[in-house]
Parts: sequence; C-alpha cells; structure tokens
Amino acid sequence: MTNEALGEGRPGTKGRAGWTREQASRIERTDDTVAPIVYPPATEQIPEVHIWDTWFLRNRDGTLATVDGYRVCFSLTAPSDLLPGKRHDVATIRCFYSDDGRNWHNAGPVFEDALGQRQWAGSALYDDDGSVYLFYTAAGEEGADDLTYTQRIVGAGGGSIDTTDGFELSGPWTHHELLQPDGDRYEREDQSRGMIYTFRDPWFFEDPETGETWLLFEANTPVPEGSDVCDGDAALQEFNGSVGVARSPTGDPLEWDLEDPLLDAVGVNQELERPHVVYREGLYYLFISSHLHTFAPGVEGFDALYGFVATDLRGEYVPLNESGLVATNPENAPFQSYSWMAFPHGDEVLVQSFFNYYDFDGDTLDEIAHLSESEQMRRFGGSLGPTLRLDVEGSRTRIIGTLGHWHIPLDGETLPLTDRELIRRGKGNE
Ligand code: FRU
Repeated sequence: MTNEALGEGRPGTKGRAGWTREQASRIERTDDTVAPIVYPPATEQIPEVHIWDTWFLRNRDGTLATVDGYRVCFSLTAPSDLLPGKRHDVATIRCFYSDDGRNWHNAGPVFEDALGQRQWAGSALYDDDGSVYLFYTAAGEEGADDLTYTQRIVGAGGGSIDTTDGFELSGPWTHHELLQPDGDRYEREDQSRGMIYTFRDPWFFEDPETGETWLLFEANTPVPEGSDVCDGDAALQEFNGSVGVARSPTGDPLEWDLEDPLLDAVGVNQELERPHVVYREGLYYLFISSHLHTFAPGVEGFDALYGFVATDLRGEYVPLNESGLVATNPENAPFQSYSWMAFPHGDEVLVQSFFNYYDFDGDTLDEIAHLSESEQMRRFGGSLGPTLRLDVEGSRTRIIGTLGHWHIPLDGETLPLTDRELIRRGKGNE
C-alpha cells in the first residue's frame, strides 16, 4: 500500500512525521472507538497488589512468547493499601505467569537491585537463546533523599526462566544504563518548559522487513524559548511529546545509538506514552497512550489509545481514523482504562490495558484527588482490564468486541464469535 492510499500525512521531512493540531481536532468518540463499560473482575482475578502498566514477554519477531506453555507478563505494582495516586512513587516491577491465558500467578518482584528510586514502564525480550532481557525506566536517582523525576532508560540482562518445578524467573541480573536524553533531539529535564519532561517506556522492536533492531521510547522534542514553532505561541510550545527511537547497530539488546524521533506532536500533546508497533500486512502501526490533560490548549482529546500507520518504520505516519483515536473510554466512565498495549492475534489486533478509575464520571483525573481516601481506593481497579478486539484495515480500526479481564489468548487460540458475527450468522439461518 502506498502512502497516498493511507491518506494525507503531514508534509515533512522523510523519517520525521508529526501529529498535527488539525488531525487531532477531529478526535471524537464514535461507535468504533469507544470501549464498553468495565465492571470489576471476579475477586479471584484481583491480584494482591495494585497493578497498572503491563507488558508481555515477547520474541524478537514481536509475537508474545510462550515458555514451556506459559505466557509471561510484567507489571508496575504497588501495595494495594497505598493511595492509588501515590503508586508512581513506589512502582516496582513484578512478574506474572499463566498457563491458560486467563488465570495469572504472581512470581514476585523481578529485581532486588534495580536502578532508580523506582521503576516505570518498559518491555521484555525472550531472546532466541532463551535469555530474558528487561527494558525499563529508572525514575529518580538512587541515593537521593527526596523523590526526583529524572528518567533514564535501562536494560537488564541475565534473566532466565526455569519451569522444571513450576515457573521461576531469576537472574543474576546486570543493569545497564542505555540511554539519556541528548538535549538536542530529546529534551532533558532542565530544558522542560511546562509539565514534567518524559524520557521513558522503552519498547524493543525488530523490523521484520529490514532485520534492524530498534528501541522506541516516550520523549519530548526540545523547543527553545523564542522558537517560531507553532507560530511562536509559547503556550503551545510547552506541549512537545515525541516518540523517540534508538538503533542497535549489531542487534545486541544492550547497545543503542539515539536517532531522530519517529514522530512528534509539538503543539498537540505532551505525553506520547508507551509507544509500540504492530507490523501487519506490510504496514507499521505505531500506537501510543495519552491523557485528556496532556493535550495542548485548543485541542480536546481523551484518555485513549491513539495510533498512526506508515509503510516503513521511519515512514510518514498518518493518523488512524483520521484523528489518531483508536480506543477510548465511554463518556460516563472516562478514566476506566489506561496504558493500552496492542498485539497481533490471528487476523485481529488485541489490546490490553489496566483497569483504572471506575464508577467515576468527573471531567478530569485531578478530581479524583478531591474524593475521600476511601472513595479513591474503592474506585481504583488496579488490575488488568478486559482485552479489546480490534479489526484493523489500512488506516481504519474498529472495536469489535472484548475478552475477559486479563484474558490473553494462547498461541492459536480461536476467539469466540463477536456479537456482529453472531447476528450475521443468525440472520443467515432465518
Ligand atoms: C503510563 C505511565 C508511564 C510510566 C508509568 C509510571 O501509565 O505514565 O509512561 O512509565 O505510568 O507509573
């Protein structure tokens, strides 16, 4: 498929696409982009810790790994008696595993000696020789007295899985600082002009067409004061999210060189979170999560999964569904899910996310903090939400159904018929 067939992208330099205000102004809830309401899962499916951002152990080719029959995932976790808003300050990566893709077991914290004061999101690679690598964000400087917001991208090598007696993931791990912002392509903390900067959420990707090895991450594009970007509008320039990328010249998961961002959203949005790619039928689908409150003035968006498509990894991405909106929460539960992660399964693309604040229809997430502590606790899901099923065709996507909470089908698992398919079949029998 050619770029023309995908729609009109931002005219720009090859290898540097943008999400424009014009595109983002088309964001609106539609039947194809709004997920159904989420109800709390059965008690036995609620983990003993709060979990949020979650990623699966994947093979180099991007498919979910199965290790001796086990699916494996990693989640940011915090004690479930902690106020949910405080969880980012203590986040710890835990491993979970499942032999049926439905019931998950806690294998405990992955590291004893991780870098940073706490660990934020990342990705995990099950390499061809069976070794496990974890990429994560070291947030804050270890040893500092106060909580700090510095973010560094770290790779941990040395992991292996033993299933002789159940499931065990163990080290010894070695932690390698892989990337820091260069201040030129990627904003450093001291250059940030508005909300807190981002340099986090590393995500491993091996390009099936070129064989090149990449690490995507969430970042910001430096926009110096006095710049004429966004017609010199300082209030818009503060919103400068980007999808960063580094390349491994040898394929070594612990050796990376920064390259220019894949896409940015200057004047549109501050946080393009947890970027990841699904490769399908010759096209590269780039997905990010973003928040209602990180859109620049004059653009209205939602807490949602957004996506873009291009004919190569460094191509001129065009927004899916014309605006970029792929999946969001219903209007009466606007914060029920967050941190979406798409992955292929057969003909479909499945999307997992965590169950965030429910039974809450406030206008902003900030309003949560004004509720009593017990209400904040009661309304926080803190587990994985239902898996969404997406039909994806060219630059169009459509939510066609859901699977249960934390249902991540095993390889080759046939999914139930969707409601639409059932209706179609019923009509056929009339
Ligand atoms: C998204 C996110 C990630 C970050 C994590 C910190 O939910 O903001 O970008 O790694 O949460 O808890």
